Amino acid sequence: MSLSLLGGVAQAAPAQAAEPPQPVIGQPAKDKDGCAKIEKSLPTLADWPKVDSRFKGKADDEARIAQILAGMTLEEKVGQMTQPEITSITPDEVKQYAIGSVLNGGGAWPGGNKHATQQDWLNLADAYWNASKTSRTKIPVIWGIDAVHGNNNVYGATVFPHNIGLGAAHDPCLVRDVAGATARQIRATGQDWAFSPTLAVVQDDRWGRTYEGFSEDPRITRSYGFEAINGLQDGATKRIGYNGVIATAKHFIGDGGTLKGQDQGVNPSSEADMINIHGQGYYGALAAGTQTVMVSFNSWTNADLGINEGKLHGSDKAMNQILKGKMGFDGLVVSDWNGIGQVTGCTNSSCPQAINAGIDIVMVPADWKAFITNTIAQVKDGQIPMARIDDAVTRILRVKIRDGLFESQKPSDRSYANSDEALKDNWLARDAARESQTLLKNNGNVLPLKPKSKVLVVGKSADNIQNQTGGWTLSWQGTGNTNADFPNATSILTGIKQDLGDANVTFDEKGDIDPKGYDAVIAVIGETPYAEGVGDLTRKTLEASKLYPEDLAVLDKVSG
Ligand code: GLC
Repeated sequence: MSLSLLGGVAQAAPAQAAEPPQPVIGQPAKDKDGCAKIEKSLPTLADWPKVDSRFKGKADDEARIAQILAGMTLEEKVGQMTQPEITSITPDEVKQYAIGSVLNGGGAWPGGNKHATQQDWLNLADAYWNASKTSRTKIPVIWGIDAVHGNNNVYGATVFPHNIGLGAAHDPCLVRDVAGATARQIRATGQDWAFSPTLAVVQDDRWGRTYEGFSEDPRITRSYGFEAINGLQDGATKRIGYNGVIATAKHFIGDGGTLKGQDQGVNPSSEADMINIHGQGYYGALAAGTQTVMVSFNSWTNADLGINEGKLHGSDKAMNQILKGKMGFDGLVVSDWNGIGQVTGCTNSSCPQAINAGIDIVMVPADWKAFITNTIAQVKDGQIPMARIDDAVTRILRVKIRDGLFESQKPSDRSYANSDEALKDNWLARDAARESQTLLKNNGNVLPLKPKSKVLVVGKSADNIQNQTGGWTLSWQGTGNTNADFPNATSILTGIKQDLGDANVTFDEKGDIDPKGYDAVIAVIGETPYAEGVGDLTRKTLEASKLYPEDLAVLDKVSG
């Protein structure tokens, strides 16, 4: 209670109502299989929780970081914060500019070759690695890759159902296993860092990236957020080590809650909904010790509620106050692809606001030289405090030390490098595909089909593997591929033939054959691949038949 003098008369100020204690979230309860349980309900949180990450690193890590930092120039510090794309930077430039990380965007392969071999990927990874290790600071570079359903950029890699399929399985241990397999696939080609999982809790299915989220249910996303990080980082608490890679909880925060599901649009959520819906995946991911978080393209704005954060890439509240402050995240925050350019007053190569708001690594695919020049100038003229730069580089070094990189060999000498076995995980993929199926109805118990049933198969996707794999597969949009681009994959038609025998299966894509005389007709239809905004359903309808009339036509024909 405090006393205040009012006109000479002491007046006791009313006692401040005690702030409710900040919630704290630790390790999740486990289900019967030993994985993070999908809770029946989640307690409503009145504030952002402090999340107790199980990843503590080793005792002397911080002293080591301080020692490395003290020996770095401003140019080297800004270089560590810069992430160019592999098509716009050479290994020599990585050394010259002391670059801290690189990425390949969806559809960027070594030498621009979609069929690049594991050895091609490893050769480029070694080149970047060797360049960084011969720089003045010798700080190892890290390579980030969008391995969002297996190592899906890589020719010959086994891909798994997208997150929405895994969400339908209600199986957190499956998510752990798929993530673990993905980590090994990434090590097989020499990268260090998975830009996954997406932890969007999707509220409007018109969003083109709905399939990248696990679920509209925060309970599932919370449990899966834990197990996805657990699998990718191999359950690490001190060093990520041989089986794991650096993981990314993305996109912080509220990417799945924009108006009309518009990609990169406005999320008008109250803070309570941000905490209790869109934040849940991060409570799981941070508890599992994710070492990186990627910022979201969307805005967080609701004038009626007095919320005016605008683009999250410039939101001090979201990154500094909430993620790093209240939630206690001590890893690094990476921006999204040219995301800083969307912040008011910024460009792709200049955004002191975004760095001051808490971004530690800036994903600047092409304009990275200008970004470095501008950012150094902005530190020198005081727009960006040196303390912020030092904090960003401290976080980057912390993640690299926790990844064991300072003791690591070059990528091609590491475990699983060039391992064909690691790259192919068909049995797990089949399990995942099996579990992700959703049976909507089974009239007349037509399923399961009897052995040797005579079946007519129709539809555009029966023998089209790229329609099975969707976006983020080989190419960014998942298009432009033929079955020959998937040497280890099985189309749905081939799988049916393997099961029933070729002689019992007739395939007619357009459905012109009279279905009479067949025990069953299997129509394989649906969406064609897309990624990001391309898939937004700006139309009012979710009726796929209006979007894919060819599917309705086939169904009309075979149903007589
Ligand atoms: C994209 C996506 C993000 C991805 C990044 C790098 O725009 O929003 O999910 O990790 O760029 O490819």
